[in-house]
Amino acid sequence: MTAPALPARGSLRLRFIVAILVWIVAGLVVIGFSTSALFRRHVEYQFHDELTVHLVELADLTRLDAAGRPVLDRPLSDPRYGMPNSGYYWQVERDGFPPLQSGSVKRGALDTTLAHQPDIVHRLAPGPTGPTMTYGFARSATDGGSELHFLIATDEQILNDVIGAFDAELRRWLGLMALGLLGTGALVILYTLKPLDRLGQAIAAVRNGSARRMEEGWPAEITPLVADLNGLLDTNDAMVARARVEAGNLAHSLRTSLAILTDEAETLARGETGDSAATLLEQCRRIGRQLDWHLARARASVRQGARTPIPDAIAPIAAAMQRLHAGRTIQFAIDGSAPVALAIEPEDFAEILSNLVDNAGKWAGSRVGIDWRISGPHVLLSVTDDGPGIPEPMRAAVFQVGSRLDEQAPGSGLGLAIARDLARRYGGDVSLEGRSDGASGLVARLDIPLAA
Ligand SMILES: Nc1ncnc2c1ncn2[C@@H]1O[C@H](COP(=O)(O)OP(=O)(O)OP(=O)(O)O)[C@@H](O)[C@H]1O
Ligand SMILES: [Mg+2]
Repeated sequence: MTAPALPARGSLRLRFIVAILVWIVAGLVVIGFSTSALFRRHVEYQFHDELTVHLVELADLTRLDAAGRPVLDRPLSDPRYGMPNSGYYWQVERDGFPPLQSGSVKRGALDTTLAHQPDIVHRLAPGPTGPTMTYGFARSATDGGSELHFLIATDEQILNDVIGAFDAELRRWLGLMALGLLGTGALVILYTLKPLDRLGQAIAAVRNGSARRMEEGWPAEITPLVADLNGLLDTNDAMVARARVEAGNLAHSLRTSLAILTDEAETLARGETGDSAATLLEQCRRIGRQLDWHLARARASVRQGARTPIPDAIAPIAAAMQRLHAGRTIQFAIDGSAPVALAIEPEDFAEILSNLVDNAGKWAGSRVGIDWRISGPHVLLSVTDDGPGIPEPMRAAVFQVGSRLDEQAPGSGLGLAIARDLARRYGGDVSLEGRSDGASGLVARLDIPLAA
């Protein structure tokens, strides 16, 4: 088993770890400081209570002997006042007598300035073994003489030691808690990010071909992403499948021409010429048209914002057709209304229109008319000829690839199929109609959306 890799820079995992770390450290620092402050306050209250009680006890136990000297009936209940330098001290004073002190005082004395009023006051004052919390008050004597001064003191160090011990324990405990929280945080990260790892594996499986689609059963946040991915994969599959069929079609459509060309080449090799030139020409033209058709189909997507202005784009096509059909006296007339722009690439428009005008030129008696009108968001462009036309029932069939009504006439039967395929890519169409004036002939209609 390999050790888990460190999270990469900028990874979600690293973000989670940093966030959890900051969260835990900040949280525990706040908890640590506030707990310590609370505990200090609590301990100080307790010391205050205890020392006040001891002070009152001291005063109550004190009486005057026959000479008026203060003496204690019995020692204070807390034995620490009897242990030398214990940090717990008391002192009773009366003017004219030596101070009465607890057994714990082995050197020095307590600060008596504190014990000159009837109410108990306290402050930090120097003591026998360092700074002390000193409490004091004065009480008038029972013999009516000078008053008695009572003092109780506890080393501040004792309070600090109690708080210090608590803080040390608190730090240890918070440290353990930090480790525990980090551990569970890591588990949480591992658990919540697991689907992302699975996602990576599922995508890798699709990439290396061991799966065709992404599996099901994802968390709600990832499900739409997986659905989109599967949609993309399906579209891709469809595109690849279409490309396969297209490639097959191309190969198939060229095979016949190739067979004829080979045959003709063999004829030429045998020294016979016949009408090989015409056949070769015819086949070359057929191959060219086949390639046109397949290239037109291969143009997978339509760019947004395509624009072709008419009649500007029609004139050169009409002129080219005029030359192509120069052998026959056919008039190509543009009878359009106002200029408009079509939402189609100029090259695609030229491809469509030249197919329609070429057909019209081939079949027309004497005239081919090109006109257009706007119909809603579309432009309807008509190419009208005065040839034999196509009987209504046959009109749909001539859009089939390779479909030709008159096998004697030149052509490969691809023109209309290419024209319709291209027009449909732009949201338009190509259709065939009879002439509305009842005369013989055909109207090829091109419908293309108006440009914005
Ligand atoms: N204006 C028209 N008048 C009469 N028949 C037409 C007209 N246009 C097309 N046709 C018929 O429809 C068939 C299909 O036309 P299409 O343009 O698809 O192929 P093609 O002209 O034969 O060959 P290609 O255009 O590929 O050189 C034609 O062979 C013809 O029989
Ligand atoms: Mg044609």
